[in-house]
Amino acid sequence: MVTTSPSDPMTELATPVESPAKASPSTKANNPNPIAEQDAMIEIDDVSFSYDMGKTNVLKNISFNIPAGKVTALIGPSGCGKSTLLRCLNRMNDLVDTSKVTTGQIRIMGQDINAHDVDPIELRKQVGMVFQKYNPFPKSIYENVAYGLRIQGIKNKARLDEAVEKSLQRAALWNEVKDRLNSSALGLSGGQQQRLCIARTIAVNPRIVLMDEPCSALDPIATARIEELIAELQEEFTIVIVTHNMQQATRVSDRTAFFYLGELIEYDDTTTIFGNPSVTQTEDYVSGRFG
Ligand SMILES: Nc1ncnc2c1ncn2[C@@H]1O[C@H](COP(=O)(O)OP(=O)(O)OP(=O)(O)O)[C@@H](O)[C@H]1O
Ligand SMILES: [Mg+2]
Repeated sequence: MVTTSPSDPMTELATPVESPAKASPSTKANNPNPIAEQDAMIEIDDVSFSYDMGKTNVLKNISFNIPAGKVTALIGPSGCGKSTLLRCLNRMNDLVDTSKVTTGQIRIMGQDINAHDVDPIELRKQVGMVFQKYNPFPKSIYENVAYGLRIQGIKNKARLDEAVEKSLQRAALWNEVKDRLNSSALGLSGGQQQRLCIARTIAVNPRIVLMDEPCSALDPIATARIEELIAELQEEFTIVIVTHNMQQATRVSDRTAFFYLGELIEYDDTTTIFGNPSVTQTEDYVSGRFG
């Protein structure tokens, strides 16, 4: 996957991974690792992260495993490090010169993604990202979705047509745009543009889709469409979503991780985090008493 060697663990593990048992033992605070390694798509193992070459850590010794084929929500007050952690998962933080993973390891399908032989561009094909502000390219609807495929060297028109249609269908946008594929993507509504960005992300068939507050710029109807879409996409992809919307976390996610000041405070089934959390801080946050 990240490298082309057939013995590459990411390639070897690119077979369906068993979903984690919902009945795994309840998570306790500070030891939030209820998902067995073999069931984890992403293993975050004692990760600390700094934007100033290690002088201050904005993520502090984070450990938890993210299950395959599920939706995991990251919640917590502004500035607690949710986006930073999300960007660690596809090495987007590499773009910040002074950034540094100061401790620990992130493994995706068993592969240490910060290992020297991992190509971040290849990694990002497997770990796609959807941003808060939808950001289609100033190109046609078709070309937005075909973009990643063209970069992969796919030129065959029939193959591109098929992939564009499939991705737009998977993103629940096909029916709305099939008659205007050559029109500018910028002419779509905000909610449509965000679904287009999702189509563009899934067109290259990633294993994981990271979403950083994907609905925060959308109205309630467009938000509901994206939430429905997330539920459908979870059958094919492992999804990690940052959200400030507590109702959204309860609606879309299977598991929730609560962060505060760079620390993982609690990680568990979403129903437990919102219904019966172990830590008072979690309870205060999910009930709106702070944050
Ligand atoms: N590129 C950067 N350079 C330096 N510091 C950064 C950078 N990006 C984020 N930070 C800092 O890292 C900390 C965590 O930020 P991050 O964006 O991960 O928080 P967040 O939980 O996503 O917040 P929000 O809910 O407001 O989006 C903050 O103190 C922030 O100021
Ligand atoms: Mg953020």
